[in-house]
Amino acid sequence: MISQERVQELVHKAIEARKRAYTPYSKFNVGAVVIDTSGNEITGCNVENASYGLSMCAERTAIFKAVSEGSDAIETVVVVGDTEGPISPCGACRQVIAEFAGEDFTLILANLNGDTKVMTKEEMLPYGFSPKDLT
Ligand code: THU
Repeated sequence: MISQERVQELVHKAIEARKRAYTPYSKFNVGAVVIDTSGNEITGCNVENASYGLSMCAERTAIFKAVSEGSDAIETVVVVGDTEGPISPCGACRQVIAEFAGEDFTLILANLNGDTKVMTKEEMLPYGFSPKDLT
């Protein structure tokens, strides 16, 4: 079980990453931190595009950065946005997170007011399609 102090520390890092969001279209800034099974911390922010559909969410930016730098499984994902309650990741991000989520996976959702929500992989994406289904 992750401590409240650790949650706050990681949310703070995601808030720092959020400052680098490129959002001229939505103006909705999101920050993320991914921790892989080796303990590496990788940050991400959302990066939008004039061709709107090419925009990338913060948590997928962080996951793709991590995988491209050699991370195998992901133990923790933190996402923060300026929402009323803790931010809720889109379905596409949930599917991508599930692809790399390790055994002891924890998802931490937060907003800028200090509200947080901690979830398991199954809570994040119940009965999701998984790489195991292909074997
Ligand atoms: N967005 C994220 O980066 N993560 C989320 O969990 C929710 C939505 C981004 C996508 C887009 O750049 C902006 O927020 C508005 O949808």
